[in-house]
Amino acid sequence: MTRTSLKVLFAAAALTGPAFAFNAHAAELTVGFSQIGSESGWRAAETSVSKSEAKKRNVNFKIADAQQKQENQIKAIRSFIAQNVDAIFLAPVVSTGWDAVLKEAKEAKIPVVLLDRDIDPSGKDLYLTAVTSDSVHEGEVAGDWLAKAVGDKACNVVELQGTVGASVAANRKKGFDTVIAKHANIKVVRSQTGDFTRAKGKEVMESFIKAEGGGKNICAVYAHNDDMMVGAIQAMKEAGLKPGKDILTVSIDAVPDIFKAIAAGEANATVELTPDMAGPAFDAIIAYKAKGTVPPKWIQTDSKLYTAADDPQKVYDSKKGLGY
Ligand code: AHR
Repeated sequence: MTRTSLKVLFAAAALTGPAFAFNAHAAELTVGFSQIGSESGWRAAETSVSKSEAKKRNVNFKIADAQQKQENQIKAIRSFIAQNVDAIFLAPVVSTGWDAVLKEAKEAKIPVVLLDRDIDPSGKDLYLTAVTSDSVHEGEVAGDWLAKAVGDKACNVVELQGTVGASVAANRKKGFDTVIAKHANIKVVRSQTGDFTRAKGKEVMESFIKAEGGGKNICAVYAHNDDMMVGAIQAMKEAGLKPGKDILTVSIDAVPDIFKAIAAGEANATVELTPDMAGPAFDAIIAYKAKGTVPPKWIQTDSKLYTAADDPQKVYDSKKGLGY
Protein backbone atom coordinates (compact mmCIF):
# COMPACT_ATOMS: atom_id res chain seq x y z
CA MET A 1 0.00 0.00 0.00
CA THR A 2 1.39 3.42 -0.94
CA ARG A 3 1.70 6.32 1.45
CA THR A 4 -0.97 8.24 -0.44
CA SER A 5 -3.47 5.37 -0.32
CA LEU A 6 -2.75 5.00 3.40
CA LYS A 7 -3.52 8.67 3.91
CA VAL A 8 -6.85 8.22 2.08
CA LEU A 9 -7.62 5.18 4.22
CA PHE A 10 -6.85 7.02 7.44
CA ALA A 11 -8.80 10.08 6.37
CA ALA A 12 -11.76 7.77 5.72
CA ALA A 13 -11.23 6.15 9.12
CA ALA A 14 -11.44 9.55 10.77
CA LEU A 15 -14.79 10.17 9.05
CA THR A 16 -16.42 6.80 9.64
CA GLY A 17 -15.60 6.25 13.31
CA PRO A 18 -14.51 3.30 15.43
CA ALA A 19 -15.59 0.40 13.15
CA PHE A 20 -13.45 1.70 10.31
CA ALA A 21 -10.73 2.70 12.73
CA PHE A 22 -10.50 -0.98 13.70
CA ASN A 23 -9.73 -1.81 10.04
CA ALA A 24 -7.13 0.93 10.02
CA HIS A 25 -5.51 -0.81 12.99
CA ALA A 26 -5.00 -3.87 10.82
CA ALA A 27 -3.86 -1.87 7.77
CA GLU A 28 -0.25 -2.18 6.81
CA LEU A 29 1.77 0.68 8.20
CA THR A 30 5.48 0.87 7.49
CA VAL A 31 7.61 1.82 10.49
CA GLY A 32 11.41 2.17 10.47
CA PHE A 33 13.26 1.59 13.75
CA SER A 34 16.77 2.95 14.27
CA GLN A 35 17.96 0.59 17.00
CA ILE A 36 21.20 1.24 18.93
CA GLY A 37 22.80 -2.19 18.59
CA SER A 38 23.03 -5.28 20.76
CA GLU A 39 25.11 -4.16 23.73
CA SER A 40 23.00 -5.91 26.37
CA GLY A 41 20.53 -8.70 27.00
CA TRP A 42 17.88 -6.06 27.53
CA ARG A 43 18.59 -4.55 24.09
CA ALA A 44 18.34 -7.98 22.41
CA ALA A 45 14.97 -8.49 24.13
CA GLU A 46 13.74 -5.05 23.06
CA THR A 47 14.59 -5.83 19.42
CA SER A 48 12.89 -9.21 19.59
CA VAL A 49 9.77 -7.92 21.42
CA SER A 50 9.50 -5.01 18.92
CA LYS A 51 9.38 -7.50 16.03
CA SER A 52 6.65 -9.56 17.64
CA GLU A 53 4.61 -6.46 18.61
CA ALA A 54 4.86 -5.29 14.96
CA LYS A 55 3.67 -8.69 13.76
CA LYS A 56 0.68 -8.66 16.14
CA ARG A 57 -0.44 -5.36 14.58
CA ASN A 58 0.35 -6.26 10.97
CA VAL A 59 2.98 -3.49 10.79
CA ASN A 60 5.66 -3.68 8.10
CA PHE A 61 8.67 -3.16 10.39
CA LYS A 62 12.20 -2.30 9.25
CA ILE A 63 15.00 -2.38 11.83
CA ALA A 64 18.40 -0.75 11.26
CA ASP A 65 21.10 -1.82 13.75
CA ALA A 66 23.44 1.16 14.34
CA GLN A 67 26.16 -0.85 16.08
CA GLN A 68 26.36 1.76 18.83
CA LYS A 69 27.15 4.64 16.46
CA GLN A 70 25.10 7.83 16.25
CA GLU A 71 26.27 8.46 12.67
CA ASN A 72 24.73 5.11 11.64
CA GLN A 73 21.48 6.11 13.34
CA ILE A 74 21.42 9.41 11.43
CA LYS A 75 22.04 7.55 8.14
CA ALA A 76 19.24 5.09 8.95
CA ILE A 77 16.78 7.91 9.71
CA ARG A 78 17.66 9.60 6.40
CA SER A 79 17.14 6.33 4.59
CA PHE A 80 13.72 5.86 6.28
CA ILE A 81 12.77 9.40 5.22
CA ALA A 82 13.83 8.62 1.62
CA GLN A 83 11.66 5.48 1.75
CA ASN A 84 8.73 7.63 2.89
CA VAL A 85 7.88 5.37 5.84
CA ASP A 86 4.76 6.15 7.91
CA ALA A 87 6.67 6.60 11.18
CA ILE A 88 10.19 6.35 12.60
CA PHE A 89 11.10 4.85 15.97
CA LEU A 90 14.43 5.99 17.41
CA ALA A 91 16.37 4.65 20.42
CA PRO A 92 18.91 7.48 20.63
CA VAL A 93 22.35 6.22 21.67
CA VAL A 94 23.26 9.66 23.03
CA SER A 95 21.02 12.60 23.89
CA THR A 96 22.58 15.35 21.72
CA GLY A 97 23.04 15.91 17.99
CA TRP A 98 19.58 14.99 16.69
CA ASP A 99 18.08 18.35 15.78
CA ALA A 100 19.09 18.47 12.08
CA VAL A 101 17.94 14.97 11.14
CA LEU A 102 14.73 15.18 13.18
CA LYS A 103 13.92 18.49 11.47
CA GLU A 104 14.24 16.63 8.15
CA ALA A 105 11.75 14.01 9.39
CA LYS A 106 9.39 16.75 10.53
CA GLU A 107 9.60 18.52 7.17
CA ALA A 108 8.78 15.20 5.48
CA LYS A 109 5.75 14.94 7.88
CA ILE A 110 6.98 11.63 9.28
CA PRO A 111 6.25 11.32 13.03
CA VAL A 112 9.13 10.17 15.21
CA VAL A 113 8.73 8.19 18.44
CA LEU A 114 11.63 7.92 20.90
CA LEU A 115 12.06 4.52 22.52
CA ASP A 116 13.75 3.89 25.88
CA ARG A 117 16.12 6.91 25.80
CA ASP A 118 15.54 10.62 25.61
CA ILE A 119 17.08 13.52 23.69
CA ASP A 120 17.96 17.00 24.91
CA PRO A 121 15.04 19.41 25.54
CA SER A 122 15.99 21.46 22.43
CA GLY A 123 14.52 18.59 20.38
CA LYS A 124 11.16 18.43 22.24
CA ASP A 125 9.14 19.69 19.24
CA LEU A 126 10.81 17.29 16.84
CA TYR A 127 9.20 14.07 18.02
CA LEU A 128 5.62 13.00 18.63
CA THR A 129 6.05 11.04 21.86
CA ALA A 130 8.66 9.18 23.90
CA VAL A 131 8.07 5.72 25.38
CA THR A 132 10.56 5.48 28.24
CA SER A 133 10.86 4.75 31.92
CA ASP A 134 11.64 7.51 34.40
CA SER A 135 15.37 6.80 34.48
CA VAL A 136 16.05 9.31 37.28
CA HIS A 137 13.52 7.37 39.36
CA GLU A 138 15.27 4.07 38.51
CA GLY A 139 18.45 5.50 40.09
CA GLU A 140 16.42 6.62 43.11
CA VAL A 141 14.87 3.16 43.53
CA ALA A 142 18.36 1.61 43.41
CA GLY A 143 19.68 4.17 45.92
CA ASP A 144 16.73 3.69 48.30
CA TRP A 145 17.23 -0.07 48.26
CA LEU A 146 20.93 0.31 49.10
CA ALA A 147 20.28 2.87 51.86
CA LYS A 148 17.81 0.46 53.51
CA ALA A 149 20.13 -2.53 53.04
CA VAL A 150 23.15 -0.89 54.74
CA GLY A 151 21.32 1.09 57.44
CA ASP A 152 23.86 3.09 59.49
CA LYS A 153 26.90 1.10 58.36
CA ALA A 154 29.64 2.99 56.46
CA CYS A 155 29.47 1.93 52.83
CA ASN A 156 31.82 2.68 49.92
CA VAL A 157 30.07 2.21 46.59
CA VAL A 158 31.62 1.69 43.17
CA GLU A 159 29.49 2.66 40.19
CA LEU A 160 29.47 1.23 36.67
CA GLN A 161 27.95 3.87 34.43
CA GLY A 162 26.20 3.31 31.11
CA THR A 163 27.27 4.77 27.76
CA VAL A 164 28.72 8.27 28.07
CA GLY A 165 26.25 10.82 26.71
CA ALA A 166 23.22 8.48 26.97
CA SER A 167 20.23 10.05 28.75
CA VAL A 168 19.71 6.93 30.84
CA ALA A 169 23.32 6.95 32.09
CA ALA A 170 23.13 10.59 33.19
CA ASN A 171 19.69 10.11 34.77
CA ARG A 172 20.43 6.85 36.57
CA LYS A 173 23.50 8.52 38.08
CA LYS A 174 21.53 11.61 39.05
CA GLY A 175 18.74 9.67 40.77
CA PHE A 176 21.15 7.47 42.72
CA ASP A 177 23.36 10.42 43.75
CA THR A 178 20.34 12.39 44.99
CA VAL A 179 19.33 9.60 47.37
CA ILE A 180 22.88 8.81 48.50
CA ALA A 181 23.51 12.50 49.27
CA LYS A 182 20.97 12.14 52.11
CA HIS A 183 23.00 9.36 53.75
CA ALA A 184 26.38 10.56 55.06
CA ASN A 185 27.51 6.95 55.70
CA ILE A 186 27.27 6.03 51.97
CA LYS A 187 29.83 7.32 49.46
CA VAL A 188 30.43 6.66 45.78
CA VAL A 189 34.21 6.21 45.80
CA ARG A 190 34.70 5.24 42.13
CA SER A 191 32.54 5.74 39.08
CA GLN A 192 33.39 4.85 35.50
CA THR A 193 31.62 3.86 32.31
CA GLY A 194 31.29 0.20 31.40
CA ASP A 195 29.35 1.13 28.24
CA PHE A 196 26.40 -1.13 29.20
CA THR A 197 28.35 -4.27 28.19
CA ARG A 198 29.28 -7.37 30.19
CA ALA A 199 32.89 -7.34 29.00
CA LYS A 200 33.51 -3.72 29.98
CA GLY A 201 31.62 -4.12 33.24
CA LYS A 202 33.99 -6.95 34.16
CA GLU A 203 37.09 -5.05 33.05
CA VAL A 204 36.18 -1.89 35.00
CA MET A 205 35.22 -3.90 38.10
CA GLU A 206 38.62 -5.63 37.99
CA SER A 207 40.31 -2.23 38.08
CA PHE A 208 38.03 -1.07 40.95
CA ILE A 209 38.90 -4.19 42.95
CA LYS A 210 42.65 -3.62 42.44
CA ALA A 211 42.38 0.05 43.39
CA GLU A 212 40.26 -0.69 46.50
CA GLY A 213 42.47 -3.10 48.47
CA GLY A 214 41.48 -6.21 46.54
CA GLY A 215 37.82 -5.31 47.08
CA LYS A 216 38.07 -5.03 50.90
CA ASN A 217 37.14 -1.34 50.79
CA ILE A 218 34.07 -1.90 48.62
CA CYS A 219 30.70 -2.41 50.29
CA ALA A 220 28.44 -2.24 47.21
CA VAL A 221 28.35 -2.04 43.41
CA TYR A 222 25.74 0.03 41.59
CA ALA A 223 25.59 -0.76 37.86
CA HIS A 224 23.43 1.13 35.37
CA ASN A 225 22.48 -2.20 33.82
CA ASP A 226 22.41 -5.89 34.70
CA ASP A 227 24.84 -6.93 31.98
CA MET A 228 27.62 -4.81 33.49
CA MET A 229 26.69 -6.31 36.88
CA VAL A 230 26.95 -9.85 35.53
CA GLY A 231 30.47 -8.94 34.31
CA ALA A 232 31.26 -7.37 37.71
CA ILE A 233 30.03 -10.51 39.53
CA GLN A 234 32.47 -12.56 37.46
CA ALA A 235 35.31 -10.14 38.35
CA MET A 236 34.45 -10.38 42.07
CA LYS A 237 34.39 -14.19 41.97
CA GLU A 238 37.73 -14.35 40.15
CA ALA A 239 39.19 -12.07 42.86
CA GLY A 240 38.02 -14.52 45.56
CA LEU A 241 35.18 -12.27 46.75
CA LYS A 242 31.58 -13.31 47.39
CA PRO A 243 29.27 -11.02 45.37
CA GLY A 244 25.91 -10.53 47.06
CA LYS A 245 27.50 -11.16 50.48
CA ASP A 246 30.95 -9.47 50.79
CA ILE A 247 29.82 -6.85 48.29
CA LEU A 248 26.16 -5.91 47.76
CA THR A 249 24.84 -5.42 44.23
CA VAL A 250 22.06 -3.31 42.76
CA SER A 251 21.50 -2.78 39.04
CA ILE A 252 18.82 -2.04 36.42
CA ASP A 253 16.94 -3.97 33.69
CA ALA A 254 15.75 -7.23 35.34
CA VAL A 255 17.19 -9.56 32.67
CA PRO A 256 16.97 -13.34 33.29
CA ASP A 257 20.70 -13.69 34.09
CA ILE A 258 20.48 -11.33 37.05
CA PHE A 259 17.63 -13.45 38.49
CA LYS A 260 19.86 -16.49 38.13
CA ALA A 261 22.51 -14.60 40.13
CA ILE A 262 19.95 -13.45 42.73
CA ALA A 263 18.69 -17.04 43.09
CA ALA A 264 22.32 -18.16 43.65
CA GLY A 265 22.83 -15.43 46.30
CA GLU A 266 25.38 -13.64 44.08
CA ALA A 267 23.31 -10.51 43.39
CA ASN A 268 20.85 -8.62 45.57
CA ALA A 269 18.54 -6.28 43.67
CA THR A 270 17.49 -5.10 40.22
CA VAL A 271 15.05 -2.47 38.92
CA GLU A 272 12.91 -3.68 36.03
CA LEU A 273 12.90 -1.96 32.63
CA THR A 274 10.31 -3.46 30.31
CA PRO A 275 11.65 -4.47 26.89
CA ASP A 276 8.22 -3.70 25.43
CA MET A 277 8.65 -0.07 24.43
CA ALA A 278 7.45 -0.71 20.86
CA GLY A 279 3.96 -2.01 21.75
CA PRO A 280 2.75 1.30 23.25
CA ALA A 281 4.60 3.16 20.46
CA PHE A 282 2.75 1.21 17.73
CA ASP A 283 -0.57 1.84 19.47
CA ALA A 284 0.18 5.57 19.65
CA ILE A 285 1.15 5.76 15.97
CA ILE A 286 -1.85 3.69 14.83
CA ALA A 287 -4.27 5.97 16.73
CA TYR A 288 -2.45 9.07 15.52
CA LYS A 289 -2.56 7.98 11.89
CA ALA A 290 -6.11 6.62 11.98
CA LYS A 291 -7.85 9.25 14.08
CA GLY A 292 -5.37 12.07 14.55
CA THR A 293 -5.17 11.24 18.27
CA VAL A 294 -2.14 13.04 19.64
CA PRO A 295 -0.49 10.88 22.32
CA PRO A 296 0.88 12.32 25.56
CA LYS A 297 4.43 13.62 25.08
CA TRP A 298 5.70 10.94 27.47
CA ILE A 299 4.38 7.39 27.73
CA GLN A 300 6.00 6.22 30.94
CA THR A 301 6.81 2.58 31.72
CA ASP A 302 7.14 1.10 35.24
CA SER A 303 10.27 0.70 37.39
CA LYS A 304 9.67 -2.22 39.77
CA LEU A 305 12.29 -3.34 42.27
CA TYR A 306 13.09 -7.09 42.55
CA THR A 307 15.10 -8.78 45.30
CA ALA A 308 15.60 -12.31 46.63
CA ALA A 309 12.16 -11.98 48.27
CA ASP A 310 10.51 -12.12 44.82
CA ASP A 311 11.09 -15.78 43.97
CA PRO A 312 13.96 -15.08 41.52
CA GLN A 313 13.89 -18.61 40.05
CA LYS A 314 10.24 -18.17 39.09
CA VAL A 315 10.92 -14.74 37.54
CA TYR A 316 13.89 -16.22 35.66
CA ASP A 317 11.68 -19.02 34.28
CA SER A 318 9.00 -16.53 33.22
CA LYS A 319 11.45 -14.24 31.43
CA LYS A 320 13.93 -16.55 29.79
CA GLY A 321 11.93 -17.23 26.65
CA LEU A 322 11.28 -13.56 25.89
CA GLY A 323 14.17 -12.83 23.56
CA TYR A 324 16.79 -11.97 26.19
O1 AHR B 1 18.30 2.50 27.23
C1 AHR B 1 18.09 1.38 28.01
C2 AHR B 1 19.41 0.76 28.39
O2 AHR B 1 20.14 0.43 27.25
C3 AHR B 1 19.31 -0.53 29.16
O3 AHR B 1 19.11 -0.36 30.50
C4 AHR B 1 20.64 -1.12 28.86
O4 AHR B 1 20.76 -2.48 29.16
C5 AHR B 1 20.71 -0.85 27.41
O5 AHR B 1 21.93 -0.96 26.90
